[in-house]
Amino acid sequence: MAKKQAITRRRALLGLSALAGMGMFCTKAGGFKHINNQFLAIAFQQRNFSVRGNAPLRSRAAAKGLIYGAAASYSKLSSDREFAQKFAQECAIVVPEAELKWDALRPSPSRFDFTKADWIAKFARSHRMLFRGHVLVWHEALPKWFATAVNKQNAERMLVEHIRTVAGHYAGKIHSWDVVNEAVLPEDGRSDGLRNSPWLQFLGPNYIDLAFRVAAEADPHALLVYNDFGLDYQYEEPRRVAVLKLLERLKSGGSPVQALGIQAHLWGDKNGTLNLKVLRKFLRDVASMNLKILITELDVTDKNLPLDVSVRDRLVAATYEDYLDTVLQEPAVIAVLTWGLSDRYTWLNWSNSRQRLDRWPARSLPLDNDFKRKSAWNAIARAFDAAPKRPST
Ligand code: XIL
Repeated sequence: MAKKQAITRRRALLGLSALAGMGMFCTKAGGFKHINNQFLAIAFQQRNFSVRGNAPLRSRAAAKGLIYGAAASYSKLSSDREFAQKFAQECAIVVPEAELKWDALRPSPSRFDFTKADWIAKFARSHRMLFRGHVLVWHEALPKWFATAVNKQNAERMLVEHIRTVAGHYAGKIHSWDVVNEAVLPEDGRSDGLRNSPWLQFLGPNYIDLAFRVAAEADPHALLVYNDFGLDYQYEEPRRVAVLKLLERLKSGGSPVQALGIQAHLWGDKNGTLNLKVLRKFLRDVASMNLKILITELDVTDKNLPLDVSVRDRLVAATYEDYLDTVLQEPAVIAVLTWGLSDRYTWLNWSNSRQRLDRWPARSLPLDNDFKRKSAWNAIARAFDAAPKRPST
């Protein structure tokens, strides 16, 4: 630990000399003023992201008892052979980016359409990959008909029917389900920190427990996950507190929740507010409830980073490495999934709040636009190589 702190300090000091020459660069590239100085300093010295050998991420993770994979969509996996081939090469688990959400599965209140999700499940099987489910209960991606068809009277029946049908359809074939996604939003002002979502308005806070119980019945083999965002940075303490409170409430009521999914949509300019001690403590608190932890949607938004590709790539890579070095210290962390594999298909290019203002494509994922491994890939590989080995189960 002391050694690690010393290295971090040395990195920062080394970088200070580079800061001196940055004035001109700052004005040209813009956006620098948002970036924490110490972090910039780290990026500007030649941080070395070299890795040993060519082994793909899935085998580097597996060597440590970890699972690595990514989100992907039916349209890309089924139409882009090169992408599909790279995906199978790097990933040991796939999660459909959209195909298991309500609006994708349910064209009408009475119909379920599993065609695309089934295709991904088959793709996973034929490439010896695990298949992960996202998501059974969420306030987003609801079909248009939801607003008029679902109400206080029928919400419980609709929720139960949905979970029984979907989790039942994949029973025994799924590694883990995001049973409930993003149920916490302290800004909504409730004392329990829960989001004032349609589900909460119809059913009260117990909809979460209900969802876990029905999922456990429908698929006793899948690992049941509560998944949320905004748990990483120091200023996100109210979100961590609310999530811990929720998990404690669920566990003490006997709810079959088995893991926390940490989305980890990180920002390349926010490393200054990543307090690694606070993060580790949070992970330990979660683990102490006998819960596993999955990093479920990892990526690094480069919206506020300079346009220069080599600078951007280094900052993104450093963000991956620092984050993973920390979270992988916690033995309860069993899996890491990035939200996409290649920059070509990242959602960040069409996200209103996360796309670059200059509209240049994001460089946020392990593979670049041409499916070549870049510094972000190296950083993840290095973090897996350095991770302590999980006890075999
Ligand atoms: C995103 C998809 O990647 C986009 O393609 C879609 O337009 C919106 O949803 N948290 C989640 C994911 O749990 O389901 C979201 O996925 C990203 C944020």
